[in-house]
Amino acid sequence: MTHEDVHVVWHSQAVSREEREQLNGHRGCVLWFTGLSGCGKSTVANVVDHKLHQLGVHTFLLDGDNVRHGLNASPAILATDHNEEFARRFGLGFSAEDREENIRRIGAVAELFAAAGLVTITAFVSPYRRDRDAVRRRIESGGQAGDFIEVFVDAPLDVCEARDPKGLYKKARAGELKGFTGIDDPYEAPERPELRLASAEHTPESLADQVIAYLRQTGKVS
Ligand code: ADX
Repeated sequence: MTHEDVHVVWHSQAVSREEREQLNGHRGCVLWFTGLSGCGKSTVANVVDHKLHQLGVHTFLLDGDNVRHGLNASPAILATDHNEEFARRFGLGFSAEDREENIRRIGAVAELFAAAGLVTITAFVSPYRRDRDAVRRRIESGGQAGDFIEVFVDAPLDVCEARDPKGLYKKARAGELKGFTGIDDPYEAPERPELRLASAEHTPESLADQVIAYLRQTGKVS
């Protein structure tokens, strides 16, 4: 433990998580979507968010590209308002270590939102099993087993590549983009996700309904 750590003390709060959940009428949890770029994570996560919101559930969606503009901005973005050293230290790209930190920060934010009693939805590639498992441990140790729901949005690479909504697969194949997940960087599929969505075979609407059905079965929402 360093000198600095000793002075950071965890405070218990006057309003408990249970009291927040009681006010909301449902428990908080984290719905963690993972899958290749272009597999439909964001699309399905948005439909789930919308449907839950209409049901009166308190939700929040943390979405890949948006978070990489703010909390987890790239060195290039940070360099506009900060010096080079700052941008280099805190900006995130797509190396294995930067992805690890991306997922760690998002996991920590998701934990806070779940503790605020929200059904927290995240949509990130999160390609490394170890990083996702670390978030699971963190969420479950702060709450209870079942609070982390891993949703594997499973579409074959060729389907994602054919969709190529941002033209990034094309760039990766052309060698203009290095370390692209699924092309020259790994994607480690979940071994025991709570939910697997066959996203090449169903509409986003019906995939979202599968997620809501799971939340109902497990008593997360009524
Ligand atoms: S993660 O791997 O760290 O979880 P995240 O979900 O935040 O990734 O961002 C992925 C998005 O960034 C992709 O959908 C894609 O638009 C873009 N992207 C840019 N470079 C890469 C890359 N090398 N690998 C994967 N996605 C990339």
